[in-house]
Amino acid sequence: MKKVYVSLLLAICLLTVALAGCGKQTVNKNESKLKIGVTVYDQYDTFVGQLVDCFLTFQSEDVEIAIYNAAQSQQIQNSQVKKMIEDGVDVICVNLVDRTDPTAVIDAARKSDVPVIFFNRELVEGDIGRWNKLFYVGANAEESGVMEGELAAWACLTKKDIDKNGDGVIQYVVLEGEAGHQDAIVRTEASVNTLKKQGIEIDKLGYAIANWNRAQAQTKATQFIEDYGYNIELVLSNNDDMALGAIDAYEAKAVPRNKWPVIFGIDGTNVGLEAVRDDKMLGTVYNDKEGQATAMFELASVLARGGSIEELSDRYTIENGRYIRLPYEKVTSSNIIKYLSR
Ligand code: BGC
Repeated sequence: MKKVYVSLLLAICLLTVALAGCGKQTVNKNESKLKIGVTVYDQYDTFVGQLVDCFLTFQSEDVEIAIYNAAQSQQIQNSQVKKMIEDGVDVICVNLVDRTDPTAVIDAARKSDVPVIFFNRELVEGDIGRWNKLFYVGANAEESGVMEGELAAWACLTKKDIDKNGDGVIQYVVLEGEAGHQDAIVRTEASVNTLKKQGIEIDKLGYAIANWNRAQAQTKATQFIEDYGYNIELVLSNNDDMALGAIDAYEAKAVPRNKWPVIFGIDGTNVGLEAVRDDKMLGTVYNDKEGQATAMFELASVLARGGSIEELSDRYTIENGRYIRLPYEKVTSSNIIKYLSR
């Protein structure tokens, strides 16, 4: 009887251990898999597309990443965020369509206690303060404009043939990104002010909003060529894609190479870097997509296990406990090799 009782007890113990083991295994498996949902304002945006490609390199057996394209609709983006929450993501990464309208995203995430990392399209400060689990990863718009201005000033000071009509003044046009985007107005202002500060006399012939888009920029630049002919000596573009649109316009109009203005962009996208390598664009400013993707992933990993952004302070400067901004870098033909091989 005693033997039977002991065996029964042993069996119960073994079963309990086995069940506990199974249960534990399942729970661990779910807990250890990091699920991140990402929604972008437009998957056809060259820079954002490449940033997402960098982010996807973090996908693995233990990391599931779901990417959604909001196709320029804030409403679509809001539903995508809800869907991600239903799917049980640990962290949401949002490239806002309308950076002034993050309310639905914030409310949905807050209700379900899912942290949000906004990236590339910066929400206004008042909004980031609405909950303590909202963060931003990006860069400092002003820095990129200053660097573009420095590159252009260096060119004007060292290459006298830029001033084609020899009047001592550089005639320029600007191609601007989306109205209302933090990187548009700030980049334009900073690059123009930097040129002035460096003692370059400049004269603005015109500017056009081309929404970061290569085809739109080609149309606008074609108009500039028709309006100002060979008088344009410098093109300052808020990003590489629009600088490439200007190059397309000069090529399509078969303007002789020695009549082209010097052209500068920002981003260092693959196509942008190739244009610098091929001497069509004189310089660009590297928008560190690898660094931003890494920072987003590291932050997502920390937040998913309930940690604090401050855990990353040995690697990044954390602003106001919410922001991580990666530095820009100047790119010209002299250091292009380093960037082409990234
Ligand atoms: C990039 C642009 C891009 C935009 C999208 C900017 O930081 O320089 O190329 O189109 O972000 O939000």
